[in-house]
Amino acid sequence: SNGTAPAEVSNVAAQLSASAAEPGKTDWTQETLSVVVVGASGDLARKKIYPALFALYVEDMLPENFSVYGYARSKMSDEEFRDYIGGSLTCRVTDEDSCGDKYDTFLERCYYQPGQYSDESDFKALSERMTGTEKDRKKANRIFYLSIPPSIFTAVAGCASKAASSPSGWTRVIVEKPFGKDSESFAQLERELSNFLTEDQMYRIDHYLGKELIENLTVLRFANLVFEPLWSRNYIRNVQVIFSEDFGTEGRGGYFDQYGIIRDVIQNHLLQIVSLFAMEAPVSLDAEHIRNEKVKVLHCMKQLTLDDVVVGQYRGRQGKGHSYPGYLDDDTVPPGSLCPTFAAVALFINNARWDGVPFLLKAGKALANRRTEIRVQFRNVPGNLFSDRLSLNGMDLDRSTNELVMRIQPNEAIYLKINNKIPGLGMKLDTTKLDLTYKQRYNVHLPDAYERLILDVVNGDKRLFIRNDELDAAWALFTPILKEIESKKVQPELYPYGSRGPVGSHYLASKYGVRWG
Ligand code: NDP
Ligand code: BG6
Repeated sequence: SNGTAPAEVSNVAAQLSASAAEPGKTDWTQETLSVVVVGASGDLARKKIYPALFALYVEDMLPENFSVYGYARSKMSDEEFRDYIGGSLTCRVTDEDSCGDKYDTFLERCYYQPGQYSDESDFKALSERMTGTEKDRKKANRIFYLSIPPSIFTAVAGCASKAASSPSGWTRVIVEKPFGKDSESFAQLERELSNFLTEDQMYRIDHYLGKELIENLTVLRFANLVFEPLWSRNYIRNVQVIFSEDFGTEGRGGYFDQYGIIRDVIQNHLLQIVSLFAMEAPVSLDAEHIRNEKVKVLHCMKQLTLDDVVVGQYRGRQGKGHSYPGYLDDDTVPPGSLCPTFAAVALFINNARWDGVPFLLKAGKALANRRTEIRVQFRNVPGNLFSDRLSLNGMDLDRSTNELVMRIQPNEAIYLKINNKIPGLGMKLDTTKLDLTYKQRYNVHLPDAYERLILDVVNGDKRLFIRNDELDAAWALFTPILKEIESKKVQPELYPYGSRGPVGSHYLASKYGVRWG
């Protein structure tokens, strides 16, 4: 390598080279990046990984010298791979912008290497090919994105670390969920992976942490004076985290039936939201400091009991001119499966801040709409001077309490429900919203979660990745209840496709004086 900097460096390379003297920082003027997508022929790769890499490339966020290597068993030439990727790329950065040349120059950086997942010599061949694009620089850095079924995580981690890790720079590995199915299988997976990878190299993805509003949660809490003083049992009556999808498990029944909604969504995505919501202020924004606080609050969660859990499963429904299949109608689902496609859980945090406050989590497939929200219901105003007025106007006191809603998707928004005087003579009250709808306030396309997360791996930032002790704590919370549901063969309550879910979830909420928002 001649070690000279190229005439043109990308934004990120320029920013990073400024801090290249700092130990541990990558000097992108001198180093290369190769992203290996293992499972390159798969669904996640095509749906999320290539579009995210492309968007980062279009926005000049990737180092000057970067390449993408697809790896899977399917036979494809580089050209066929480029056609395959090309089909999934859109220019999402702005409506007007045409990505023009960038489309072609991106694809020119993509290569494909077929191989088996447990064959070291195939990984060696991949590594040798990679040196082709790495040879001009001092150091070669490599990211392996394991976009494959969990049954082959360990085999791939082993082969990649022995035969294809970078000889000169860093090697990082992105692992996708599921991280096991319970405490034992998670511990086993960790033991196996740790034979080949250090904790430092491992980036465990929970893509919910890459969503714009989830990242904003810490900003909202800790960069504003007005929320944090209210953020406790003194003022908050209950917190709801609601995940609802308006489609079923069509096409994914085989995977889903092994896991069910509690493992698929609640134990990871929703619990991550609760831990960021409820944690104490971290010492700093450093990844370890944030993750320390998340683990602490996870350890404060009270063990779940069956009477605080409701499970449901969707059944088919005949709509106007269309029939919606039930979960059991999917050929890949075993007949008579009791797998829950809906669950609601009441969770309590035994610490000084949250003692007694119900955190109600609800997740379901094939419901009436698609939305993910955090809803914070505040307590009643003590000695409310307007209580007569509110009831006179037909408003129920409970419904007129303040509520803060963070709508994670779709149509991202944060709004606060307040009571307000209707303008005019007389004194009539109304409940209305202080409304921050992102589309109206910010004229930008929000990055997809995968863009943010892949960029963080490139920059070695672990704030939005899950540490192993977080997963330990998350599984410790859910494993006993999952085992109990399975061993007692708890019958899920059936709900029609496209409905609001089983009524049991309303009974659970009302047990704690809560009405779902
Ligand atoms: P796929 O089932 O599409 O598998 C990816 C690739 O792995 C396939 O193209 C295939 O490539 C290879 N493969 C599939 N099954 C096997 C097998 N039994 N043995 C060996 N190789 C196999 O997975 P996804 O792309 O959907 O998901 C990848 C990972 O991401 C998984 O861990 C999944 O749980 C996780 N994930 C996926 C999400 C999604 O939306 N798809 C969302 C969140 C997480 P080939 O035959 O060419 O070798
Ligand atoms: C995945 C689950 O982790 O998240 C899916 O496996 C679910 O079942 C998906 O549909 C939801 O993600 P998003 O980003 O579309 O809300």
